[in-house]
Formats: sequence, structure tokens, C-alpha cells
Amino acid sequence: MVQVVVTGAGRGIGLEFVNQLSQDSENVVFAVVRNKSKIEYLKPIADERSNVHVVEADVTSPQALEQAAKEIAEITGGSLDWLISNAGGVTDPSITIADPNVSVEKVGQDFLDNYRWNTVSHIYANNIFLPLLRKGKEKKIINISSGIGDEAFTRKSKITINAGYASSKAALNYNVLKYAIELEPEGFTVVALSPGFVDTSKTRDGPVPEGMAKIFGQLLDGFKLAEPEWDGNPITVEDSVTKQIKVIKKLGPKDSGISTSQNDSSEIWL
Ligand SMILES: NC(=O)c1ccc[n+]([C@@H]2O[C@H](COP(=O)([O-])OP(=O)(O)OC[C@H]3O[C@@H](n4cnc5c(N)ncnc54)[C@H](OP(=O)(O)O)[C@@H]3O)[C@@H](O)[C@H]2O)c1
Repeated sequence: MVQVVVTGAGRGIGLEFVNQLSQDSENVVFAVVRNKSKIEYLKPIADERSNVHVVEADVTSPQALEQAAKEIAEITGGSLDWLISNAGGVTDPSITIADPNVSVEKVGQDFLDNYRWNTVSHIYANNIFLPLLRKGKEKKIINISSGIGDEAFTRKSKITINAGYASSKAALNYNVLKYAIELEPEGFTVVALSPGFVDTSKTRDGPVPEGMAKIFGQLLDGFKLAEPEWDGNPITVEDSVTKQIKVIKKLGPKDSGISTSQNDSSEIWL
């Protein structure tokens, strides 16, 4: 039985974490969503299962996360076993770091937006839930990252687009290591976990933006360069989350600080 917080729980990978973890009625699952009035995919699960609690917080707001932690602590008695800090995403995927056709202000702003969304928001969540995790049994902090932020993968894939996002995830991986070192004396396990290349289209809001086909094409070419054995297809969100939960269960303090994938590997990201 674990008490677990999942951020970004209204759609995609976060939603599937809530779905699979709450299938065990012993678990208590806190689904943190940006907007409680927009949870069409989560609502059926939350309505059906009494072990799912929906809590509102924008992860870029420390105040909102503090309020969420307060609400959660009231239900758990002040403890928490796992934090799955999952919320995040790509801002403008077309941006490369040195495109002469894009102003330096625009590139800089995209990096700042990505860092705020994919790096700093995890620091907020990790630190704000730390007091609860200290009182928990398992002390696991999982920050959902991406293979795109891995240095070796980047050297092989030669992907230039998604520059701000990749950089923000690389910084996230580094921060995980810093947490691991600082929290080692307390027995924490802090890990950056990549979900793979996941098809989340079932819960996507609206159509794919124009120009995305070209961007996807570049990504796929890079993926094949990096991992020639890859079959060329994204994995399902169900498969990704099943594998990730298996990895999270297996992880312990000796693994703290690593960046790994749904494949339980720091080399196979797809
Ligand atoms: N899908 C992939 O192939 C893939 C690959 C590598 C890494 N990842 C990582 O996996 C994580 C989940 O991605 P996904 O594919 O499931 O994305 P998604 O389908 O776009 O879902 C993202 C979720 O995060 C929530 N969210 C975004 N910003 C938020 C904020 N400021 N405050 C609170 N919630 C927020 C969204 O809430 P709303 O519903 O309110 O928008 C949504 O529920 C991300 O960290 C992403 O970088 C995904």
C-alpha cells in the first residue's frame, strides 16, 4: 500500500498513473490537476474509486502547491510515500538554439518558459512535498524527464529542435542528482524517469498543431539514428506506465540520483 501524489493527472501519462495505481484499493492516490473543472478523462475514475482524491494546483505556482500539500496532509495525517512529479511539456517544439531566422529574444524566452515549466516546477513540487515524504515509508521522489534530455542520446540522435525542452529536462536530471546527494542521509530515492516515446493522443486537447508533422519527422529520424533497433512506433500510454511503475517499485536508495527509462535503462530510451 502506498500513498502517492501524481501531478499532471488530468490527461496523458499522469492520468494513466492514477488509473493503474488506484486499481489497488489499498493505495491512496492524489491526482493533482491544473483545473478541477476540466477533468473529463479523470472524472470517471475519481467518481468510481474512493481511493482517488482530486486536488487542484498549477505546478508553476508554489502557493497553489502549498495549498495542495496542506489538503493532502489532512487526509494522510501528514505523510506521503511517493511523489510522481509528472506535469510538464513542450512549449514551441520547432525552436533550435541557433536558428538565424528566430530572434535571440524568442529563443531566450522559450528556454525560460521551458525551465519554468519542466525544471523549476519540479523543485517546487519536490520541496513542498518533502515534509510529507519525510514522514512516509518509502521516500520516493520521481521526476518525469525525457530521453531527449540525455547527453549520449542527443549526441547520437543529433536532434536540434525542441532545444529549450531538451535543455530543461537535462537540467532536471542534474537537479535529481543534487537532491539525491542532499537527501541521502535520510534514505530518500530521487530519480529522473523517462516514460519513452508515448502515444497520448487519446487524451489530447484539440487537433495536432500545424507544422507538427514536419517536426515529428525530424524527431523520428533522430530517434532511429540514436536507437537503430527501435521499431519506429510510440508505445501506448498503458504500456509505458505499467513499465514505469515496475521500475519505481524496484528502485531504492542505492539508485538515487540516476536518470533512467521505462526500460529500466539509462541507455535505451525508446
Ligand atoms: N508523451 C511522451 O512521449 C513523453 C516523452 C518524454 C517525456 N514526457 C514527459 O511526460 C510528462 C507527461 O507528458 P504527457 O505526454 O502525458 O503530456 P500531456 O498529455 O500533455 O499531459 C500533461 C499533463 O500535465 C498537466 N500540466 C501541464 N502543465 C501544468 C501545470 N502548469 N500545472 C499543473 N498541471 C499541468 C496537463 O494539465 P491540463 O490537462 O490542465 O493541460 C496534463 O494533465 C511530461 O513531463 C513530459 O515532458 C512525455
